[in-house]
Amino acid sequence: MRVRNVVFVLIVCVLSVSLVSSVVAAQAPAKPAAPAQGAAAQAPQIHGSLIQVMRGILFINSNIVFAAQSEDPETIEPDEFLSLSPSALKSLYGKWMAVENAGIAMAEAANLLTIPGRRCSNGRPVPLQDPKWGEWVQGLRDAGMASFKAAQSRSQDAIVEVSETLTVACANCHERYRDVEPIINRCR
Ligand code: HEC
Repeated sequence: MRVRNVVFVLIVCVLSVSLVSSVVAAQAPAKPAAPAQGAAAQAPQIHGSLIQVMRGILFINSNIVFAAQSEDPETIEPDEFLSLSPSALKSLYGKWMAVENAGIAMAEAANLLTIPGRRCSNGRPVPLQDPKWGEWVQGLRDAGMASFKAAQSRSQDAIVEVSETLTVACANCHERYRDVEPIINRCR
């Protein structure tokens, strides 16, 4: 009996010590973050060429908006495993929400077209110094947000209209900087 009591008291002691220490830990001031490392991580960094951003973000997301012209997102059959679906329109965040998100993705991707240091596929730097570049980036941003709003309205007519705006926003820039021969003249 006495042995049991001793064991019981010991357990209570250990428990309360660990409780107190966790409270103390919770109240201890957070360690100051290493400033240099944190600052570097917060600055934008370049990971892909311009063509990779185009193929990886703008191509994919503009096609989600374009697809909503002919197929009503509301009636799209979701994939069996929603949260594993690689198809935005059929995923957990599918149907009209996928179209909304595609608009946001394009507007946000416009920011990626303004970061210094990115290069085009031919090695030339992205022509950030050209005021026209900025104008067309803004056009993309606006078209992305217009797509978002059209998707919010759940109207396929609005999507048909905004698809035209979007196509023009892409084409303006492409005419000058992409659709030139030979490819070495891109981004010039
Ligand atoms: C501000 C300018 C600009 C805007 C806006 C823009 N693009 Fe581009 N895009 C380019 C340039 C320049 C290239 C060529 C990039 C390279 O060769 O590195 C390109 C390349 C591409 C490519 C790759 C073509 C290939 O040769 O494989 C695709 C796809 C593409 N863009 C899609 C889009 C879509 C879709 C939009 C609109 C939603 C868009 N882009 C908006 C400038 C732009």
